[in-house]
Order: sequence, then structure tokens, then C-alpha cells
Amino acid sequence: MKKVKLYKPTVEDLWFREQCMADPDTMSYNAGYDVSYNGYHYDTGCIDFPKSEWEAWHTNKFSNPNFYYAYIVDVDTNEFVGYLNYHLSGEGRYEMGIVMYSKYQGQGYMRPAMQEFLSTAKQNGITALWDSVPASREKALKVFFDFGFEVVEEFNSIKFGKEDLCYIIKKEL
Ligand SMILES: CC(C)(COP(=O)(O)OP(=O)(O)OC[C@H]1O[C@@H](n2cnc3c(N)ncnc32)[C@H](O)[C@@H]1OP(=O)(O)O)[C@@H](O)C(=O)NCCC(=O)NCCS
Repeated sequence: MKKVKLYKPTVEDLWFREQCMADPDTMSYNAGYDVSYNGYHYDTGCIDFPKSEWEAWHTNKFSNPNFYYAYIVDVDTNEFVGYLNYHLSGEGRYEMGIVMYSKYQGQGYMRPAMQEFLSTAKQNGITALWDSVPASREKALKVFFDFGFEVVEEFNSIKFGKEDLCYIIKKEL
């Protein structure tokens, strides 16, 4: 079993976030959505995150008490392997996300990272976490269900112009 810890990145560590978000293999899950924000690439899902934005992003995000963000670090190699977060949405839900850098996907990091993440969120006083996950992402969903997440809503998102069934999943902590 992989051993991981969660780590709050410094401004200088944000090269890894930039690297992940510039990698089409990592970001393919994010491609094809009809959204328009600065730096979003519809075809690959990549998001520009140049060094000039790091400081402001770090200050802005980490001064928000309703935002949590951490790198997933392999304890044995000390390498950054992915990142995860939660934030309070406009609907008053703490929505989470987890992304593993493509090079490290499929190596068993998701379960230990979720374990650490859920206990951290609970310690931080979060009482429920939500995520929205395409129904086609069966491997990730299986892990979420094993951790006690349940489907509470379904909706169709539009990905590359086609309907894509998504589940909204929730876990009480
Ligand atoms: C979803 C994601 C976080 C999973 O992280 P990961 O470290 O690659 O996942 P793991 O290697 O721990 O695998 C998770 C499960 O999928 C299975 N799996 C992974 N790759 C597989 C493959 N190629 N074939 C079959 N099963 C596979 C694993 O066996 C594991 O299940 P198990 O614990 O029951 O054995 C990662 O793929 C990712 O970043 N995807 C893009 C973003 C995303 O989809 N985020 C989550 C939903 S919004």
C-alpha cells in the first residue's frame, strides 16, 4: 500500500500544479466543457497557470477559511503525486476534487490519499463532502463508494457537445 501525506504547497511549490494543469493526459477529464474562463483549453482540458499568477493565487486561496488545498506526497519518495481540495460552493456545499498527475495514475494512490483527506476534513469541522463524477469514471466511483459516498442526484453535463451522465455524490463525515 502506498504511503502518502497531505502537504500545503508554498508559492515556490506551485510549479507542480502548473505542470499537472498543463498536461493533457492529466487534464483530459476536464476537456470539452462549455465554460469560458481565462486559460481554459476546451480541446485538452488544460488550464494555464503561469508563474506570474502563483503568488496571488496562493494568497487568495489560503486566506479563505472555506478552502482547503493540499498536495498528495509519496512518503517514501517524497515526490508530489497529485492534489486534492474542497471549497464551499455557492450552494453551501463543500465540494471536493482529487487529481493524480498522469505519471502516477493507476499506482494505488487514490485510497490512501482519500483516507488522509477525509480525516483531515473531519478534523477541520467539515460535516459533509460532495463531488460530481461522470458515471463513466467507474474506477474512481468504486473507491468513492467504498469510502461511503452515495449518489444523491444525477444530471447530464455536456462534454464535447454530447450529453454525459454525471452523479452528484455525498458523504457525511
Ligand atoms: C481518479 C484518480 C484520482 C484516481 O487516482 P489513481 O491514483 O490513478 O487511482 P488508483 O491507482 O488508486 O486506482 C483507483 C482504483 O482504480 C483501479 N484502477 C486504476 N487503474 C486501473 C486500470 N487501468 N484498470 C483497472 N483498474 C484500475 C485500481 O485498481 C483502484 O481500485 P482498487 O483500489 O479497488 O484496486 C485519477 O485517475 C485522476 O486524477 N483522474 C482524473 C481526475 C478525476 O477523475 N478525479 C476524480 C473524480 S472527479
